[in-house]
Amino acid sequence: MSYKIVVTGGAGFIGSHLVRSFVNKYPHYTIVNLDKLTYAGNLENLKDIEDKENYQFVRGDIADAAFVNSLFESQKPDAVIHLAAESHVDRSILNPGDFINTNVVGTLNLLNASRNLWNGSEGKHLFYHVSTDEVYGSLGKEGYFTEKTSYDPRSPYSASKAASDHLVRAFFHTYGMPVVISNCSNNYGPYQFPEKLIPLMIHNIVNQKPLPVYGQGAQTRDWLWVLDHVSAIDLIFHKGTTGETYNIGGSNEWQNINLVHKMCSIMDRKLQKPYGDSAKLITFVKDRAGHDMRYAIDASKIKNELGWVPSIQFDEGLEKTIDWYLANEEWLEHVTTGAYQNYYEQQYIAR
Ligand code: NAD
Ligand code: DAU
Repeated sequence: MSYKIVVTGGAGFIGSHLVRSFVNKYPHYTIVNLDKLTYAGNLENLKDIEDKENYQFVRGDIADAAFVNSLFESQKPDAVIHLAAESHVDRSILNPGDFINTNVVGTLNLLNASRNLWNGSEGKHLFYHVSTDEVYGSLGKEGYFTEKTSYDPRSPYSASKAASDHLVRAFFHTYGMPVVISNCSNNYGPYQFPEKLIPLMIHNIVNQKPLPVYGQGAQTRDWLWVLDHVSAIDLIFHKGTTGETYNIGGSNEWQNINLVHKMCSIMDRKLQKPYGDSAKLITFVKDRAGHDMRYAIDASKIKNELGWVPSIQFDEGLEKTIDWYLANEEWLEHVTTGAYQNYYEQQYIAR
């Protein structure tokens, strides 16, 4: 079976890992990476596969319905894996409107274009919507999010993702659109934009800058190695049941302050500094507004039904992540100076 797949948000953190994996693993598929290249989109993430014959990049905005319709009419994809989103909670608190445009209107445009293209046509079609555990709200000390947990989004980001999940399900029930949704916990690994906790801490430790911990650092997140998220998406894409939702998580809960201390001690060792040196940079700052206390995923459905389990333990994944950032200072410098935004012009326009 061969597919032409539009992957949205393929220049972002998770999207670039997914695109690389599919391009290399499935040479008989065509992967069309549709990305607006916002501040979070970085084509330098995909330098190693950009010349592959089964890969194409298209720059465009999913919130632009006319553009999305014309792209789908010309490309005629069999399937969509939709990751494009405004994804940073703190930015959603500052500017909710961008999140509604991309995450809600953009998702609706992709659903409409897919429906117009696939309606009544033969073939194996799938609209795969990549979502987050944040739609379920905030847990206390006990319990886990299951696929049956009621939605209770509490930030503009999670509200916009919840709205997009509801739209995807509405297209399944109302129009019979073949859809699948997954809701994943916090990802970590190479190529993550350094405004998110783990790469931000690495960058600040290297540069001897304060390590901003929100509130008292009491919140808990369930961390998953990004390539384990990709392997879960791959399995669900090929073997998941249409109309279903799958939760994905690492069974790996860390209170923020404990995680930051763990990172400090690894960094002390790697940078050959005295033990405790990096931890002196920890600075407690004003808490995030409406900060969700705890996320924890019950991933038993995907494990039992599809046989998915994470491939690596957190200690190994964190070491690998830190090693990658230390070995890729140029990538980090381009991202923090904004130089990566010139790459598209150099690579795709000037030649
Ligand atoms: P990211 O912010 O790193 O990347 C988002 C990508 O989308 C960027 O390449 C950006 O340029 C692109 N994009 C943004 N607006 C666009 C638009 N209007 N049109 C086209 N492209 C646009 O995000 P990420 O962390 O890789 O997350 C990817 C997806 O996975 C998101 O849908 C997010 O909600 C979901 N998710 C993320 C995590 C996580 O821990 N990062 C966990 C669970 C789910
Ligand atoms: O749970 C999945 C979600 O995980 C995804 O849907 C989001 O796209 C992704 O960004 C992530 O959201 P979080 O808000 O959990 O991630 P972030 O890295 O921003 O923050 C992780 C925790 O660390 C959170 O409790 C806030 C805290 N934090 C974050 C930053 C950036 C700090 O204490 N200091 C910081 O400087």
